[in-house]
Amino acid sequence: MKKLPKIGFLYLDYVLQFFNKSNFKGWPNKIESVTYHWKNDKKRFVEEVKRKKIEVLIGNIPATAYETFVEIAKELPNVRFVPSIETQFSNKSKENVTLFCKKYDLSIPKTKIFYNKEKGYKYLKEKASYPQIIKRSYGPSNYGGYFVHKADNFKEAKKLLDEKKYNPIYTQNAIDLKDSGDIRVMLIGHKPICAFWRYSGKNQWITNTSQGGSMSYENVPMNALELAVKASKAAKAEYWACDIAICAKTGKAYILECATAFAAFPYIRDWICQYLMWDFSNGKFPKPHIPLFSWEELGKIDSNLLRTLRHIGFGKYTASYDGEYFIKDKKDLYEMELALLSKESDVPQKIDECFEDETNKTLIKEKIFEINKINFNTSTLTDLMTLYGMEEDLALQIQEYLQDNIITDSSDLLELEAIDEQMLKSWDRNIDDMRVDINRIDKENLRKIKGIGKKLAKTISDYREENGYFKNIEDLKNIDGIGKNKFAQLKSRLKIGE
Ligand SMILES: Nc1ncnc2c1ncn2[C@@H]1O[C@H](COP(=O)(O)OP(=O)(O)O)[C@@H](O)[C@H]1O
Ligand SMILES: [Mg+2]
Repeated sequence: MKKLPKIGFLYLDYVLQFFNKSNFKGWPNKIESVTYHWKNDKKRFVEEVKRKKIEVLIGNIPATAYETFVEIAKELPNVRFVPSIETQFSNKSKENVTLFCKKYDLSIPKTKIFYNKEKGYKYLKEKASYPQIIKRSYGPSNYGGYFVHKADNFKEAKKLLDEKKYNPIYTQNAIDLKDSGDIRVMLIGHKPICAFWRYSGKNQWITNTSQGGSMSYENVPMNALELAVKASKAAKAEYWACDIAICAKTGKAYILECATAFAAFPYIRDWICQYLMWDFSNGKFPKPHIPLFSWEELGKIDSNLLRTLRHIGFGKYTASYDGEYFIKDKKDLYEMELALLSKESDVPQKIDECFEDETNKTLIKEKIFEINKINFNTSTLTDLMTLYGMEEDLALQIQEYLQDNIITDSSDLLELEAIDEQMLKSWDRNIDDMRVDINRIDKENLRKIKGIGKKLAKTISDYREENGYFKNIEDLKNIDGIGKNKFAQLKSRLKIGE
């Protein structure tokens, strides 16, 4: 057991931990853990991984930290991320799922993504078949359909988008769901190890078990499993979950969502880690044996009991009489396999691969930078929610912050614990010029600008009363107490209006 790699758990502040040491029962060596604290923590994090000599780093990266971790992974070329950074690409946004499925020719509902609002509206008016399902592309998915909407006609689609201002516009054909349900398939080493139907609650069209829906482990169709296996292999995923819709009319399967982080009973997490130990030990640990459709039997167990079961195992089937062995279909339908290692080119190119139409493509690239600008001081909660990775509680925190502050530069928000520079960077193109017109702002509000205290607010307003409106921002330098540094600071926050 000498050559086992050094394992580390990748944890993040505020993010639920998926695995812990108890899942790695039997692993003889110490398992490290490294926690990412957000806010400029990249360098320290990299150092800690190096110092602890971690060779395999296990954990899911939330969408808001993904870009940072792409960089972190580059600085740790000898560390294997599990699942790999590339594998994790597809569940960072709805757009990413679509790009991933297009690249690997996986069946999805017909989907269009528009960065150009007019084009999007034109498509929805003239071409789209209804109902359309319109989704917010970026952001957390744990709202159980909070950002997923059904529009029955163009009027509804337009009303929705006028209000929500989603950017990009992500819209797809509604699948006429068989039995009003969809299917969650979980896989380990590309083998389905658990699958169930999720049915929507009464008067709901979204299949969400947290909103009064129900589930069933029975009769999961083979084509759903096949599609999930294909997706898992394309993603080179050690473990994986897929949400799949089955069309009521045709029986065809479509991928709705893919994930490397999902709700799973502890015994399933144990299985994943048994599989990982098999992988990391070059076969010295045994490969777990999990029969196909075993979920049908396990699903009969009361879920309260199921939640507490740990380290469940299955024996291999042995023939009970001579000859039976030869009658039975010998080969396992799906074998649990080692996932291949990812390479950078596994990740789809943004946009390019999604839009076949050349003219549309260039237009989108031009338009991408000029829509949906937000000024925090005037934006509604819904506006805030359109920002990449925004969570509802964070949006509320921002609104609370605005009660005593005027945000003139997005960096002001770094005062909030949950916001880091990476996040601000990802919002860059969506943030408006928030500088305040120095001639129109009153003393009370001046004080709410970063770098201006009560005293300076009074001085500025007194100066304005005595000398009339500022004609040039440089005039600020005439004020006693505003030196070179102060001026530089104020210049990015104040302007002369038209
Ligand atoms: N194209 C579609 N056709 C029919 N139902 C859909 C479609 N897309 C999503 N849904 C329903 O909405 C639910 C949530 O959609 P999903 O894309 O999984 O978003 P999220 O889980 O992030 O809220 C799905 O589980 C499914 O019930
Ligand atoms: Mg979902």
